[in-house]
Amino acid sequence: MKQQKRKPEQEIIYQIYPKSFQDTNHDGIGDLRGIIDHLDDLRDLGITMIWLCPIYPSPMEDNGYDVADYKAIHPHFGTMEDMDRLIEEAGKRDISLMLDLVLNHTSSRHKWFEKAVQDPGSKEHGYYIFEKGKEEPNNLRSVFGGSVWEKVRGRNEYYFHSFGKGQPDLNWENPALRQEIYQIIEFWKEKGIKAFRMDAINFIKKPEKWRRMEADGPDGRCKCTKVVRNHPGLLDYLHEMNEKCFKSDGIVTVGETAGLPYDQLEEYIGKNGCFTMVFDFRHADLDIRSGDEWFSRAEWKTADLKKRLEVSCSHIQKYGPGTSFLENHDQPRVTTKYLRKDQDDPYGKKMLGMLQMGLRGVPFLFQGQELGMINFERTDVSELEDISSIDQFGRARECGYSAEEALHFVNLRSRDNARVPYPWNEEKYGGFSDADPWLACNEQAQKRRICFENQKNDPDSVLSFYKKLISLRKSSDWSDTLNAGRIRFEEGNEEVIAFTRQKEEKELLVLCSFADHPVKTLCRKGTLILDNYKETDMNVKVDEEGMIILRPFEAMMIETEKRRENDE
Ligand code: GLC
Ligand code: CA
Repeated sequence: MKQQKRKPEQEIIYQIYPKSFQDTNHDGIGDLRGIIDHLDDLRDLGITMIWLCPIYPSPMEDNGYDVADYKAIHPHFGTMEDMDRLIEEAGKRDISLMLDLVLNHTSSRHKWFEKAVQDPGSKEHGYYIFEKGKEEPNNLRSVFGGSVWEKVRGRNEYYFHSFGKGQPDLNWENPALRQEIYQIIEFWKEKGIKAFRMDAINFIKKPEKWRRMEADGPDGRCKCTKVVRNHPGLLDYLHEMNEKCFKSDGIVTVGETAGLPYDQLEEYIGKNGCFTMVFDFRHADLDIRSGDEWFSRAEWKTADLKKRLEVSCSHIQKYGPGTSFLENHDQPRVTTKYLRKDQDDPYGKKMLGMLQMGLRGVPFLFQGQELGMINFERTDVSELEDISSIDQFGRARECGYSAEEALHFVNLRSRDNARVPYPWNEEKYGGFSDADPWLACNEQAQKRRICFENQKNDPDSVLSFYKKLISLRKSSDWSDTLNAGRIRFEEGNEEVIAFTRQKEEKELLVLCSFADHPVKTLCRKGTLILDNYKETDMNVKVDEEGMIILRPFEAMMIETEKRRENDE
């Protein structure tokens, strides 16, 4: 089948964590063939694009975000032939692929870095950030803990790493390095890749001089994001890469740009922006006070979430398409995060789906979200695999929390929550593999019988509801409104997130209740398009004060009459 040309805002993107999707060769590690085997399931779900987390050769210190070779496939995942087949088979189902490009750093096992360390006179030495000296150039803390500086063995020289010490940062200042990067992108474009997710891309610009920073923790260090994230001058590189690699070929790009100030959005996603879309994480991180310290928990209310979404959407819609996401491979499960004690409530889960699909922005689903997966509760720190979970456990202890408290924070936020094997069925290891998986399954989800097989043919399942939402967005009379309509947040009960989507003469009102009890909220009369409760009157009526009663976690999408222009 010939691939249809879609506009970016018509995509429905599904993120796959290859290591945990499906194992086919009995080694307990997911692989590309496993993805190929499930392409029909993904087509049935209705998605149009797969974002594939890194599949490149890697020592896996950060699960593939430490790339040792950009133009090859990790043997765990299969071969380049498997990759070609995946691209082709997905294409036959009108699904395209988005590759994860990790260009801020390589693995320390990349041949460039090995050469750079061996020979300080080599051209590869200039591909990385080295500083000469007997001491660390400054006191920055890396994202995964400890210093950003690592001493080169046998020399008075340090290399810089924003993330793990096995992830040395590349020196984008160097034009030869930038050429190498553009060639990598060309290599994948020639293979038929039409979309890229740009990992940690707002870290690539470094300051000219390193200076000591005021400490922000008992370790005497200061978090590096204050210095190396969104550093002035960054855009020069991004615009150059766009000109050279993306623009003329209509490549879809999404930048991972945590902390990007809204007043810079135009440069990123405006008419002459460097990317198609960017991720804004402010709503996803509202449960932690400082974004990256998981033990610094924040109290929040539905109204706070609504505010963050409102501010984000209203800025983004001035310029271009946005992204709408609730989960990814770095986030815990949204059920546990947003529904808290009601994490397993089926109405709550469907309500979250309606929220995401109703919001403005290209929807990104993370594997398992469509089943309503919940967080795990690991009982010992040794059960954690993720590099940042282990660091955060240690940092919480350092900051005076008990082991029990530290584990609690880590369970709430661990990136392993998203990375557990996909639960296909109720067999041992959830049908993911017949061998002991690289990361233990989520027992709490297993006990609750959350799996694909149990939901696939059940018209009332969370999965079936996601299918309805996707088809509404993809191929219904409301597609245009949902994909490209303006968003406006509405007044109402403080436990309800309400907004309208409007395009030309059509308007949809979306109501999402976060309350576990009935609540009264403002509404307008109209025709019900979709509701997460079964017995519902299609004719939506309101009382004389314009109010309606929503059942616990009820979510409604209502066709309403378009408000007069001067109301807007
Ligand atoms: C991004 C990725 C994350 C990874 C980090 C370093 O934030 O999403 O998983 O650990 O970059 O590459
Ligand atoms: Ca395998």
